[in-house]
Amino acid sequence: MAAPRVAIYPGSFDPLTLGHVDIIQRGSALFDSIIVAVLRNVEKSPLFSVDERLTMIRHTFRERGNVEADSFSGLLVDYASSRKATTIVRGIRAISDFEYEFQMALMNRRLAPSIETVFMMPAEEYSYVSSRLVKEVASLGGNVSGLVPEDVEKKLLERVLRRGE
Ligand code: PNS
Repeated sequence: MAAPRVAIYPGSFDPLTLGHVDIIQRGSALFDSIIVAVLRNVEKSPLFSVDERLTMIRHTFRERGNVEADSFSGLLVDYASSRKATTIVRGIRAISDFEYEFQMALMNRRLAPSIETVFMMPAEEYSYVSSRLVKEVASLGGNVSGLVPEDVEKKLLERVLRRGE
């Protein structure tokens, strides 16, 4: 029997947006399983802790059996190998994403030639959505409904209101 095709979808997910959700849904239809892998990055000061981000991802995909959420540190390709993943999935929204993604994909290929990077496009309605902009809009009192899952929106509003106190 062929080995299951496992994909890794890595990122910061601070927080998960509907653009990420769209890519994960597309990936889960293409691969036997997809692991949403949250980077544990000590250098960044995130809005949500890694555990909070994992909880939000798990809640959003609680009914999709082949989507898993996990965290990792160190090299992505080492984590992918440890999880027997053969593919890295990355979303590309616009040409501006391409240069960074291209560099990362080729560096990852150099480090681990057997792991393939696959780029996927989200639905065009999410082509401008990023975690960074969502956080900025929410923190300035703007409406982010329709850009993030409902429970993420609730947590985002609680967090930015608490920060503003
Ligand atoms: O969503 P992001 O923040 O753009 O994701 C970037 C991520 C997590 C994919 C990238 O920073 C990464 O893979 N970091 C792990 C360390 C690593 O492997 N670095 C070499 C990549 S070429």
